[in-house]
Amino acid sequence: MDPTEGTATLVNSNLSVQNTPIKEGASVAISNTPAAKKRNSDVTLLKEAMTGKKIFSKERPDDNARHLASKLTLEEQVSLLAGADFWRTVAIPSKGIPAIKTSDGPNGARGAFFKNGTPAALFPAGVSLAATWDLELMYEVGQHLAAETRARGADVLLAPTVCLHRSPLGGRNFESFSEDPYLTGKVATAYIQGLQKCGVAATIKHYAVNEQETWRMTVNAAIAERPLRELYLRPFEMAIRDSKPWAVMSSYNQINGVHGDMHEHTLKDILRGEWKFDGCVMSDWTGTNSVAQSIAAGCDLEMPGPTKWRGERAIRAVQSGELSREAVEKAAGNVLYLIERVRRGQPDVPEPPEKTEDIPERRQLIRKAGVESLTLLKNNGVLPISADKKIAMIGPNVKRAVVHGGGSASLKPYYAITPYDGLQAQLDSELLYARGCDTNKWLPLISDADLTTPDGAPGVIVEFYHGDMFKGTPAYIHHKAQTDLFLWDSAPMEVLPAYSFKVKAKLTPATTGHHTIGFMTVGPGRLYINGELFIDNWDWTEEGEAMFDGSVDVLKTIHLKAGVTVDILVESTNEVRPISKKSFSGRTHQYGGCRIGYEEESKDDLIQEAVDVAKAADVAVVVVGLDDEWESEGYDRATMDLPKDGSQDRLISAVVKANPKTIVVNQSGTPVTMPWVNEVPAIIQAWYQGQEAGNALADVLLGHANPSGKLPTTFPKRLADNPAYHNWPGENEQVVYGEGLYIGYRHYDRTGVEPLFPFGHGLSYTSFAYGEPTISNKKLGDAPPLNSITVSVPVTNVGPVAGSEVVQAYVRDPVSRLPRPEKELKAFARVELAPGETKWVHLGLDKYSVGYYDTSLGAWIAEEGVFEVLLASSASDIRRQISFEVAESFTWIF
Ligand code: BGC
Repeated sequence: MDPTEGTATLVNSNLSVQNTPIKEGASVAISNTPAAKKRNSDVTLLKEAMTGKKIFSKERPDDNARHLASKLTLEEQVSLLAGADFWRTVAIPSKGIPAIKTSDGPNGARGAFFKNGTPAALFPAGVSLAATWDLELMYEVGQHLAAETRARGADVLLAPTVCLHRSPLGGRNFESFSEDPYLTGKVATAYIQGLQKCGVAATIKHYAVNEQETWRMTVNAAIAERPLRELYLRPFEMAIRDSKPWAVMSSYNQINGVHGDMHEHTLKDILRGEWKFDGCVMSDWTGTNSVAQSIAAGCDLEMPGPTKWRGERAIRAVQSGELSREAVEKAAGNVLYLIERVRRGQPDVPEPPEKTEDIPERRQLIRKAGVESLTLLKNNGVLPISADKKIAMIGPNVKRAVVHGGGSASLKPYYAITPYDGLQAQLDSELLYARGCDTNKWLPLISDADLTTPDGAPGVIVEFYHGDMFKGTPAYIHHKAQTDLFLWDSAPMEVLPAYSFKVKAKLTPATTGHHTIGFMTVGPGRLYINGELFIDNWDWTEEGEAMFDGSVDVLKTIHLKAGVTVDILVESTNEVRPISKKSFSGRTHQYGGCRIGYEEESKDDLIQEAVDVAKAADVAVVVVGLDDEWESEGYDRATMDLPKDGSQDRLISAVVKANPKTIVVNQSGTPVTMPWVNEVPAIIQAWYQGQEAGNALADVLLGHANPSGKLPTTFPKRLADNPAYHNWPGENEQVVYGEGLYIGYRHYDRTGVEPLFPFGHGLSYTSFAYGEPTISNKKLGDAPPLNSITVSVPVTNVGPVAGSEVVQAYVRDPVSRLPRPEKELKAFARVELAPGETKWVHLGLDKYSVGYYDTSLGAWIAEEGVFEVLLASSASDIRRQISFEVAESFTWIF
């Protein structure tokens, strides 16, 4: 039995007990008493409402849901305002209302388990997708994500993430798209359109101003109205205008002193008021922060459930007059409208079990997205590599599948191709290989080869006990594949809220030596070896970075002999520790879990091995970078340098000295410092490319595909050059967005600080010439036919091979009443060209291309005057220019 599948089945069956309402909904009892008759006719009526038949009113699409909400009792309405469990909403079978299921996340549909769930298609991370600048592709990705979401039995995808890259250190930058609001908004729009066309709801997140992970639940983002509107709200605004997402997720952080879930200005005034958003707002997971205020501000759904803030507390708030009945009904209507939209026509179909759907078209699409996003930063003629060369693959990421970032964007992929396997599959000759160095942030998990359950099966056993005292016999026994045992959503519902657990396993070392064991826990925990207490983490105080709120990784060395098996036992509970946190969060128990790491002693000189291998080859490809431990939800990066302690930088310098034909492939979602940038002849920025990473990389390295990715974020030379440097991550849980409008290239333009690689940069194996542009209309106004302008430019492939160019149009406002960035991206288009071929590229502009938000007017304004359109291959490579005029100033709200 696959141990992972075993776990999923067992826990799933627990959850389905919790969610019997879904099934009950399909078979409401029929009887002949007057009350029952009335109830049954209500049920029929309401079920019809849920099918989307416009029986109550055709005026507004949400009328059915609103009508249904008005028919519910206060208790029923309130029950809809919080989740039933970790991922589902509450069902009301007697009213024909089913539960719906949500699933993370942006680059795949993970299903019901945070770790080791049902295998799923793993798409490139958000930043990789944005590096393609390919909106048609995004639309297709959205459609495939919808199919994946359905395959996991879910209706709502918790994606896309559209927070901006404010600092290169942002822990979740990899998951979101770009430093630029326009690029982010366009990519998100296409993604949402694809997803929702197939009936799956998007949940655009995290609304709003959630650009850092440090103190993420509490930090106050102090931000002025103009950057709020022009930068951080902009992608939401664009997506809501053009793709109408059915759900929005509020952010954990505070915005100018109020948490995202209760922030009236962003939720009520802007989202519902100005933008007329008609969908459902759900809180981020445990990101509801009040009873009445949150509902009144417009956060409809508290997630996850069971409720902490609503239920009885919300009913009491209505009774005491603190919360209006109207606000409750409105929120319930919003939840019902979401249910109706995703279950259109099938309200009482029971939730299907999770399944896999690993189909060839999806594999191809993921590979295509991977190829299109690989970004060639530098190439002094060593790329592409011809297949007859002897190639050395060197680096810590060569034989590892570094394919996604950490946290809720991570999942268990169907498969994941390493750079080594991808390249080897396309070559006849054997690759040379050296690891070069290790980069683990925490000790690696115990390898499958060394680990078994007490009975000798692969993996480990986790025994769950009711209560936090290990009393009696275990209530549930789960079989897990490995020793990363984060139990956020996978402890059985029945043992909540307070439980204890034991982990039992056997470890058989491969070598003799002083080996290291690492142990971190969320709650209190102890690790025993052969029955003796080895690491005591019961009263830990120092918080680490894994598992959201867990301890540091406690390391201890032990002498073990090759082949001599030892017993491992962990005892732990889900009590909140350290004690100080209890008073802070008000919780005594939350989720639990632990992680057991293991590393055997090694005396190898890894760099020397790498140098020897590089010397023996014609070309060396060094694959370095970060991974899901270094870049993750839950924390930000501490430095922009490659980990660990300079080892990867030393490796690159040593290899390029040994072999000048060295290509560096960097896998990361954010910029890294490149002290060796002038030493190496070629650099590829390879992001996190999903399950096809190795194949996509091999396609580009060998020239079977021409790279066309462009940076969606600026790569600075040094961390200190970045715009948020003085205001990151803030102090005393407050961060000031002090750079105002000047993030990303807006800052580098204004200060003249030269970046390492500019926004929009990316080379090709061919080159492109831009001809003389034309413009459809020299004047822009606010009414047809003057309300849109097309700028056209001929682009020619002047090199030897076919390739794609992304033409970028930046708009400059030379004279403005208020200060504005030097230029801003306002249109772009990809064009594919055969050698010698010319195509006209057309770029549309409108009032949104020229407007800025004037706080003195409380509106957007297009100010009269001349605007320049800069046609560019990157923010620093402007090829052509043309201008137009706004004859008379005009303003608007949305
Ligand atoms: C994240 C969300 C995610 C949710 C559910 C939260 O911690 O911030 O993005 O969708 O968890 O996993």
